[in-house]
Amino acid sequence: MQPSSDTITIALSKGRPLKETLPLFAAAGIEPLEDVHTSRKLIFETNRPDVRMIIIRSSDVPTYVEYGVADLGVTGKDVLMEYGAQDMYELLDLNVSRCKLMTAKIKGEQLPPGKIKVASKFINVARRYFANQGRQVELIKLYGGMELAPIMNLADVIVDIVDTGNTLRANGLETDEFIADISARVIASRLALKMKDEKIKPIIEMLANAVNNNG
Ligand code: PRP
Ligand code: MG
Repeated sequence: MQPSSDTITIALSKGRPLKETLPLFAAAGIEPLEDVHTSRKLIFETNRPDVRMIIIRSSDVPTYVEYGVADLGVTGKDVLMEYGAQDMYELLDLNVSRCKLMTAKIKGEQLPPGKIKVASKFINVARRYFANQGRQVELIKLYGGMELAPIMNLADVIVDIVDTGNTLRANGLETDEFIADISARVIASRLALKMKDEKIKPIIEMLANAVNNNG
């Protein structure tokens, strides 16, 4: 079914962020009609006939929003920093799914002088961060389990999300340098802001209220 042109499509990140995001949307009066956690569907109608949700990987959310296929999206600041989007705007910090983007290395070890090997799924973030520091790096792209890289001597340092720090500790690593505070953000496509502003504005206002009452 093709949505009418005044339908609002919201792209949400599946997994853990979803559990913290959906209650905020519910408080803003938007709730999926089915249980998104158990359904295998990717598109969900909501209690508002003019709003639907799509539920995808967090790293795909900026793509849907940038192409204007989704009007709004929710994804992590880490994803946005890595994606480096052009045609979209960050409208709201949902203040959930909070963590830090850090560098980490083997506990107690010094980084070697000169060029260092950096493993990360955040390759663009890592490139920018070390370039700003004037450090020479060799970047190694990984898709997960980055903590393994220093242990196996694939890299000297990793750039990754740190929440509890349990994964680092369990693998004999420690945080080294802070890069950024991360949380879930609402983004909108430039097109959606232009064409659907009168629908988007109240949704953002209600979400902002929900965030304020969430603390
Ligand atoms: C994430 C992240 C860290 C860990 C941080 O990995 O990449 O490894 O969680 O959480 P903590 O500080 O509470 O341990 P995830 O479990 O998503 O797996 P992946 O990196 O293999 O995708
Ligand atoms: Mg990990």
